[in-house]
Amino acid sequence: MKPVAIEIRALHPDDFAAANALWDFMKGIVLREDDNPESFSRFLARNPDCCYAAWLSNDLLVGAIMAGHDGRRGYLYHLAVDPGYRRQGIGRKLVEKSVSALRAQGISKFHVFVKRRNIAAATFWKNLGWELRKDIQLHSCSGS
Ligand SMILES: CC(C)(COP(=O)(O)OP(=O)(O)OC[C@H]1O[C@@H](n2cnc3c(N)ncnc32)[C@H](O)[C@@H]1OP(=O)(O)O)[C@@H](O)C(=O)NCCC(=O)NCCS
Repeated sequence: MKPVAIEIRALHPDDFAAANALWDFMKGIVLREDDNPESFSRFLARNPDCCYAAWLSNDLLVGAIMAGHDGRRGYLYHLAVDPGYRRQGIGRKLVEKSVSALRAQGISKFHVFVKRRNIAAATFWKNLGWELRKDIQLHSCSGS
């Protein structure tokens, strides 16, 4: 298959609807109530130039990633590529863009949360050279 011409651009608050349409119902992506335009804009403002989308023909979003840092570690979220455009290096490019932006902001270590049953994503991260940590438990709290 001939590779398609893709442009990678930093996500803008106006891209929420297009990005959310990609993420919505996508296996491997878990959307929460805080996936809304306000928190999307806030995240982009806190993490300038760290979040990207892959655009086809300027108006069709076929991939996206959100990334940010807390001053110490970088975290990647919501990496997704439209099923019709996978295995063409778009996911890899999105990760490279985010990681390089985070590195430029002084961050040298990065983490991504992956559902245990998401075998394809696990293979993707492994093949990008990311280490699967078996020594860490994730403890979460969303209550008051
Ligand atoms: C994971 C995902 C983003 C990968 O996007 P992609 O654009 O297809 O990835 P790339 O083409 O850059 O793949 C890079 C390498 O990862 C590996 N890889 C990617 N998808 C794979 C799969 N389904 N099975 C096995 N290996 C895979 C391959 O080694 C690939 O290189 P190759 O094609 O030269 O062999 C995409 O499958 C996706 O959107 N999945 C659903 C959402 C999701 O699970 N997101 C991850 C959340 S952590």
